[in-house]
Amino acid sequence: MKRTQVAIVGAGPAGLLLGQLLHKEGIDTLILERRSADHVAGRIRAGVLEQGTVDVLERAGVASRLHAEGLIHDGVEIGFRGRRHRIDLKALTGKSVTVYGQTEVTRDLMNARAASGAPSVYEAEDVALHELGESSARVTYWHQGVAHEVACDFIAGCDGFHGVSRRSIPTSALKIFERVYPFGWLGVLADVPPPWKELIYANSERGFALASMRSPTRVRCYLQCSLEDRVENWTDEQFWDEFRRRIGEELAAVVPTAPSIEKSIAPLRSFVAEPLRFGRLFLAGDAAHIVPPTGAKGLNLAVSDVLYLYEALSGHYREKTASSLDAYSPRCLRRIWRAERFSWWMTRQLHRFTDDAFGTHMQQTELEYLFESQAAQTSMAENYVGLPFSGYGEKW
Ligand code: FAD
Ligand code: PHB
Repeated sequence: MKRTQVAIVGAGPAGLLLGQLLHKEGIDTLILERRSADHVAGRIRAGVLEQGTVDVLERAGVASRLHAEGLIHDGVEIGFRGRRHRIDLKALTGKSVTVYGQTEVTRDLMNARAASGAPSVYEAEDVALHELGESSARVTYWHQGVAHEVACDFIAGCDGFHGVSRRSIPTSALKIFERVYPFGWLGVLADVPPPWKELIYANSERGFALASMRSPTRVRCYLQCSLEDRVENWTDEQFWDEFRRRIGEELAAVVPTAPSIEKSIAPLRSFVAEPLRFGRLFLAGDAAHIVPPTGAKGLNLAVSDVLYLYEALSGHYREKTASSLDAYSPRCLRRIWRAERFSWWMTRQLHRFTDDAFGTHMQQTELEYLFESQAAQTSMAENYVGLPFSGYGEKW
């Protein structure tokens, strides 16, 4: 049987980043990924990085292209009733966010992994976790028709919401907290220069719209849609017509009908599984929690979990005690719940909820208060740019 120190399930941003940080510390890892490398590299997802996320990517040695190509944004806009209100992130918090696609972060991490020579197995089938409560755990999988078995000290479950890791924990050992929203986001990627300078989150009577970007020549836009909707129901013309109706008159005049290079629908959900540890298994990223994308927190939260898990594991190997491992889950959960609260709040204020006249009044009142109160703007800004990480060894 082969052996590694940490078996990492999943080569999304969480798994790849953990692998990179541990490798730099001289800790052996094996990454097992169900999909092909091309599939992983091609997925279009998040676009906004907190400064803390950029700092961790720097520490992992994968930030040079990010610094060269990432777009620094000092503010975001909220559209409401035909007007746009700017939240000056930089003036209110001293911090900015970086627009750099998750696709690019993943590519940088995959290149670093390949250069390090540390092993990754793509298209690993039927990954299964064993003996999580014993003195040594095991992972089994199939690859190209051959069965494999690997013994390890720890398993990092970085395999996203639908992965095998969380499902390997007995249900009696996990508490689940969940809210499913009655709508999804229809996203389009198109190669045109964005006609907006900063992201615009628009609350319109026809539903939410988000104007985002990936680069000076590529836009990323979303529309709130019904859960029953299908991408086939939307031609590019229909998407951009609806987007123009929601984004406000001034921009509607300059938004082109650009051919989409990607179109997808994502449902919105808030989800937390507690605790993030079961014996030798540690969950990180979307395997443990989901936030609706409205707050731009999912990838950023995956990165803070990974930083904490890296500190817990390297602390354990260095100090030969259990305390850093024991602290992992409570340390993560504190930051996770704060990001859950912010993402839920942003979602609540910006989307159209049917048959909720009281809720609509609350939404209107909340947004007017936000536009008039610097205190409310500061609260939104400090959450949007990212709450600070707790220090290693700090009491939380
Ligand atoms: P994933 O990226 O899901 O990676 C998990 C990996 O595990 C995958 O490669 C998967 O193939 C693999 N896997 C699954 N099952 C198995 C198995 N059984 N065996 C082996 N491997 C397995 N976040 C932000 O911070 N900012 C944003 O602006 C933002 N926008 C978003 C927009 C959209 C439309 C969506 C859908 C998400 C957005 N997010 C955003 C969220 C962000 O994309 C996720 O939180 C992030 O991908 C989580 O990373 P992860 O590595 O934990 O999980
Ligand atoms: C994106 O560009 O994909 C994006 C940006 C901000 C969000 C969500 C998604 O809140």
